[in-house]
Amino acid sequence: MRTTDISGSRRALLKAVGAAVVLGAVPLGGPVAFAQSKTTKIGLIGSGNVGSALGRSWARAGYEVMFSSRNLDHDRALAAEVGARAHAGTPEQAAAFGDVLLFAVPYRALPDLGKSLGDSLKGKVVLNASNPFPQRDGEIANQAREKGAGLMSAELLPGARIVRAFNAIGAARMGSAWKEPGRIGMPIAGDDPKAIEIASQLIRDLGYEPVLVGGLAMGKYLIPGTPLSGEHTPDEIRKIAATLKP
Ligand SMILES: NC(=O)c1ccc[n+]([C@@H]2O[C@H](COP(=O)([O-])OP(=O)(O)OC[C@H]3O[C@@H](n4cnc5c(N)ncnc54)[C@H](OP(=O)(O)O)[C@@H]3O)[C@@H](O)[C@H]2O)c1
Repeated sequence: MRTTDISGSRRALLKAVGAAVVLGAVPLGGPVAFAQSKTTKIGLIGSGNVGSALGRSWARAGYEVMFSSRNLDHDRALAAEVGARAHAGTPEQAAAFGDVLLFAVPYRALPDLGKSLGDSLKGKVVLNASNPFPQRDGEIANQAREKGAGLMSAELLPGARIVRAFNAIGAARMGSAWKEPGRIGMPIAGDDPKAIEIASQLIRDLGYEPVLVGGLAMGKYLIPGTPLSGEHTPDEIRKIAATLKP
């Protein structure tokens, strides 16, 4: 028998398993699960530490992603390195491409992006990882800290269904949570139940367990330096969140 031959019974078994997998009857774990393709497309606005780590990880989980920044050459090289599910474009193209968008830019970029991306943001689920730092971002960051980073981003990205997420954990570890699914919690805040549901699935697919800490008003705690920042288990996040007021 040639090494490429498969005997009749083995071929039948593989066919049956394949069919069961397609029908969802066989739970897949580990690396095989990451090969399944997903239909939601994700546009990444900002492809630095955070955008590149999350885009890479979502592509690994089976999503089509488009990286964007103001440097298309960088994003083309990144997409080529990530593989066939990754694309590159301008922020406008990524916003149009994505059913869901991830914003991972300096907070100071949000006012102009809110204007330039305009209609493509309307009704779209936007995960916002961007944090306001006055030293880096200037006056807009002071305003965001005063108003709350969640409520302020809803003002800056009008029409978007915002969920704050990925704000206060290190980018360096964002790409490896899938190795221990559900161990690390991801505090999120948002006002739109459907957007929260969609965001939660995307977060789970990266290996984090999403924990809703409240509405966008609670987004003020989703920045570095608050009790929720750093890595915590889902239970720890629930306990900490119970001590915080909107
Ligand atoms: N690093 C972390 O561990 C971490 C963790 C959680 C949250 N965050 C927050 O997430 C955001 C991104 O952090 P990062 O570390 O990924 O920063 P970064 O490495 O500096 O990446 C920022 C990205 O945004 C792009 N960008 C900047 N201005 C833009 C504009 N006007 N339009 C389109 N793209 C623009 C940059 O590319 P170009 O400049 O070439 O356009 C770059 O791709 C920040 O708000 C940060 O506070 C960071």
